[in-house]
Amino acid sequence: MAVAKVFVVLILCFAIVYYVDAGPRRRPVAGPDIYKGKNVAKDSLSPGEKVVNVMSFGAKPDGKFDCTQAFMDGWRAACKSNVQARLLIPQGRFLVSSMFFAGPCLTPEPITIQVVGTVVATTDISEYENGEWLMFEDIAGIKLIGGGTFDGQGKSAWEFHQDCESDPTNTCVRSPSSLYFNKVTNGVIQNIKSVDPKGFHIFVTNSANIRLRLLKLSAPATSPNTDGLHISHSTNVKISKSSVETGDDCVSMIQAVSNVTINRLKCGPGHGISIGSLGKYPDEQEVNGVRVKSCTLTGTTNGLRFKAWPDKYPGAASDISFTDITMENVKNPIIIDQEYQCSPNCKKKPSLVKIKDVAYTNISGTTTSQIAVDMRCSKQFPCQNIKLQNIDLKLGPTPVGSRCANIKPIYVGIQRPPACP
Ligand SMILES: *[C@@H]1O[C@H](CO)[C@@H](O)[C@H](O)[C@H]1NC(C)=O
Ligand SMILES: *[C@@H]1O[C@H](CO)[C@@H](O)[C@H](O)[C@H]1NC(C)=O
Repeated sequence: MAVAKVFVVLILCFAIVYYVDAGPRRRPVAGPDIYKGKNVAKDSLSPGEKVVNVMSFGAKPDGKFDCTQAFMDGWRAACKSNVQARLLIPQGRFLVSSMFFAGPCLTPEPITIQVVGTVVATTDISEYENGEWLMFEDIAGIKLIGGGTFDGQGKSAWEFHQDCESDPTNTCVRSPSSLYFNKVTNGVIQNIKSVDPKGFHIFVTNSANIRLRLLKLSAPATSPNTDGLHISHSTNVKISKSSVETGDDCVSMIQAVSNVTINRLKCGPGHGISIGSLGKYPDEQEVNGVRVKSCTLTGTTNGLRFKAWPDKYPGAASDISFTDITMENVKNPIIIDQEYQCSPNCKKKPSLVKIKDVAYTNISGTTTSQIAVDMRCSKQFPCQNIKLQNIDLKLGPTPVGSRCANIKPIYVGIQRPPACP
C-alpha cells in the first residue's frame, strides 16, 4: 500500500514536470555565439585552470559507491570558482543518481566538464522525481568533453515506460533523459558517448548556440522512446559528425526550434530524422530553418519525416532542407505524415499544421517499401512549395511508387519513384 502511494506521488511529480514542459514557451534569445570562429575541437588547459577531480570529493570509481554527493560538491567547487576551472571525471565507473549541474557559473571562461571514464546511472526510478538524470541548467558557456561515456542503465526502465509520443494527452510520464540541457547558451558537447538511456539520450530545451559533435549514442533498436537528440524551444543548434543507433528518432525537433544544422550524421537503427510531432500542444511556435546535409540512414523505419497530429492544435514548419542524403534499406525514406497515429483511413478533422518551403535534394539509396515517397498533407492546409530534386530510391528489382495528398510538389531532375500523377 505504502509503496503504491509513493508510486502515485511520483507519477504526479513526473506528470507536473511533463505538463510544465509542455506549456507555451518562447524560444530563447540567442545572443552572440561565443564559440564562433574558435577551434572548439581542441581541448587544452588554460593557464592557471583549476582541475577539480571528483575523486577528491570522495567519489569512488568502482561502479557501486553512490558518487552523487561527490559530483555535486565537485561541480559546485568548479562552477563557483572565480578562476578558470574544470570538473574532471577520471577513468573508472562512477555511479550517480539524478542530479543538477546548475549555473550560473562564475568562471571567467566557459566551464569544462571532462569525462574520461564512465558515469553510470542508478536504476531505482524513484530517485528521478525531477524528471531527468543529469540536468544542466542556467549555464552560459559550457564544454562537455573527454571521450567518456554516460551509461543510463535503461534496461529496467524500458519495461515500465509510458509511450508519451503517441499519447495525445499531455499528462504522460516520460522516462528520464540521460543528458538534459535547459536554459543553456553556448554549449559544446563533444566526443561523448551515451549508452542505454532510460529515455532520450540528449534533450536540449530553452537553449541557444549549442554544438553537438563527435557523439556516439547507442541503445538497442527495441528500446522505447530512446530518441538520440530531442530538441525543443531552442535556436542555433549544430549537430555534426555523430552516430546514433537507437530505438526511436535519431534526431527529433519539435515546437519552437529554429536554425538547426545537421551534418554528417549516421543514423540507424532507429526511426530516422524527424520534425514533429507537431500540433500536439496549444500555442505551438513553429519549427523554422533546418538544414540536414550529408547524412546516412541505415535500416531505419523512417528517413526524413514530418509528423503532425490531425484534429488538434495549429503549428508550422518552414524553410527546411535535406541535401545529399543516403538511404540504406529505409522503410519510409521521405514521409510527410499529417495523419499521425491515425492512418490508414483517417476520419479525424485535418491537421492544423502548416508545412511549407521544404527542399529535398539528392536523396538516394534503397528502401524496403513500395511507397518510397509518401506525402500526406492536411486537407485544410495543403503543403506549399515542396521541392524534390534528384530523388533516386530503389527497392530491389521492383519499382517503387509515390503517394501525394494535398500537396503539389515541384519536381526537378531525376525522380525515382516517379512523380505523383
Ligand atoms: C539563424 O542563423 C542565421 C544565419 O546563421 C542568423 O543570421 C540568424 O540570426 C539566426 N537566427 C537566430 C534566431 O539566432
Ligand atoms: C547533387 O548531385 C549532383 C550530381 O551528383 C551534384 O552535381 C550537385 O552538386 C548535388 N547538389 C547538391 C545541392 O549537393
